[in-house]
Amino acid sequence: QQLSIIGVPMDLGQNRRGVDMGPSAIRYAGVLERLEDLKLRIEDLGDIDISRPDRHNTQKVDNLRNLQEVAEGSIRLAEKVDEVVNKGSFPLVLGGDHSIAMGTLAGIAKHYENLGVIWYDAHGDLNTGDSSPSGNIHGMPLAVSLGIGHEKLTNILGYSPKIRPENIVIIGARSLDEGERVLIKEKGIKVYTMHEVDKMGMPAVMEETIEYLKDHTDGVHLSLDLDGLDPNEAPGVGTPVMGGLSYRESHLAMEMLYQSQLITSAEFVEVNPILDEKNKTASMAVGLMGSLFGESLK
Ligand code: ARG
Ligand code: MN
Ligand code: MN
Ligand code: MN
Repeated sequence: QQLSIIGVPMDLGQNRRGVDMGPSAIRYAGVLERLEDLKLRIEDLGDIDISRPDRHNTQKVDNLRNLQEVAEGSIRLAEKVDEVVNKGSFPLVLGGDHSIAMGTLAGIAKHYENLGVIWYDAHGDLNTGDSSPSGNIHGMPLAVSLGIGHEKLTNILGYSPKIRPENIVIIGARSLDEGERVLIKEKGIKVYTMHEVDKMGMPAVMEETIEYLKDHTDGVHLSLDLDGLDPNEAPGVGTPVMGGLSYRESHLAMEMLYQSQLITSAEFVEVNPILDEKNKTASMAVGLMGSLFGESLK
């Protein structure tokens, strides 16, 4: 299998500095070496160009912070991801804040009739400018991909929506805003909150998720926000929420996804080395990628 790594040093989708260094931190934690050991053919395409606007003069348009810069970066990412899928390679995207998922999904979804998405995250990222408490676009990419939000974002690569609500599974949610809850109900999006994970256990959650997506999708994208994990284990994130998924649950989830052979693209986002302890969150991300590509089961 050919795999293409794309770094996205994006920090404009939220307020805290440092998440733009996520791709460097993940490379430093040895992602290439780790995956090469699995006999995967890997190329590192380097980083997407992200503009560096003057932080003291950022404009909010319709409660969307850095709208123009985030949209432009997402378009560049989408075009790169599109190229990678076109040549038959597996896109592995390294963030950067979660706003980049709009670009990743734009590049991938045009190649599928029914793209599935696993959103592994403490948050739903289903806000719009109207519902967002923060104006931070990293809290919006899943809504945008459903075609809900500002046209500059929903129309990346000239088509919308990218995905259907019935093809989404959110895992690990424990911080949902009011507008997000409404959208989840209205659209019938499948969500395993921490309540369900605790009650059912990760094996059952993953079995159901895989079964649910297997029949009616023709590809599945994994969007893994490191804040889905517990901040005691993954402290290097900008919006930590207590009571998250454990290291072991997360590895099990990745191993089950490997066994299912369902995943056709992936991204690991929100690694912020400035907030981290000795790069442990980046190392965690690399470990999870190892499991996703079969490290412990090959
Ligand atoms: N729901 C909050 C907001 O809209 C937090 C979003 C956090 N998103 C993330 N990708 N970490 O601001
Ligand atoms: Mn300053
Ligand atoms: Mn999150
Ligand atoms: Mn997120």
